[in-house]
Amino acid sequence: MTAELIDGKAVSLKIKERVQQRVEKLKTNGITPGLSVVLVGDDSASQTYVKNKKKTCESLGMRSDLHLYPASLTEQELLEKIDELNNDPDIHGILVQLPLPAQIDEFKIITAIDPEKDVDGFHPISVGNLMIGKDTFLPCTPHGVMVLLEHYGIDPAGKHAVVIGRSNIVGKPVGQLLLQKDATVTYCHSKTPDLKAMTQQADIIIAAIGRAKFIGADHIKEGAVVIDVGMNRDENGKLCGDVDFEAVRERASFITPVPGGVGPMTIAMLMENTLLSAEKGLS
Ligand code: GUN
Repeated sequence: MTAELIDGKAVSLKIKERVQQRVEKLKTNGITPGLSVVLVGDDSASQTYVKNKKKTCESLGMRSDLHLYPASLTEQELLEKIDELNNDPDIHGILVQLPLPAQIDEFKIITAIDPEKDVDGFHPISVGNLMIGKDTFLPCTPHGVMVLLEHYGIDPAGKHAVVIGRSNIVGKPVGQLLLQKDATVTYCHSKTPDLKAMTQQADIIIAAIGRAKFIGADHIKEGAVVIDVGMNRDENGKLCGDVDFEAVRERASFITPVPGGVGPMTIAMLMENTLLSAEKGLS
């Protein structure tokens, strides 16, 4: 079997088109969706991510301002900035790029963001709402994964989904979303004794481990759906996922490439969350 490619780039373009149309409509009501992106430090990957977020916002007709700070910024200074953004009526979404430097407590920062502007879906109130299935901002990467599955007609109901990775950003929430869609969910992680025994039972695998090409063909049941959330560099410095794409595509039924799979969906869902937040101002 050779897997069908899940084209995240194409799906994300469709989502962005729809967002753009709704942004235009909002603007006729005098509202321009605004996203503030905050980056502390000079990590080059984070700099690329935040610049992309700003560029995409602007390409869809939304406002975006980028707040760049040196790695020496204090927690208090960052809290003051968040307070200012919380109180700015033109800002509908606030995103503080993670990770933060060691002197800043990530939890303190995330909880300082107004949950009404928490377009990342990281605030404990958003996380709690997600757990109990209440309407809330969904975290962008897990939401993007679910939209991709739906777009390709992959219904998680009754399937065994194995999530590899237990981060707050991806692993834990994507498992919850799959559970809400009636999948049977198994979480695996670095302390799982026999990972292959688990992944070989999976109808749907979500790889979110952060290790280049870690998941090989022998981890996969014939016909499994493989979603690769990884973003790594291989031995030649080339971008690659957590899945050995060339080997696994011969056994899977569907597979996401890296790049061009989950990555573009993350930004598209962030744009949608910012729009949704701005639309709330209308009602
Ligand atoms: N760092 C890696 N992914 C993300 C994300 O989705 N949001 C934020 N704020 N930081 C990140």
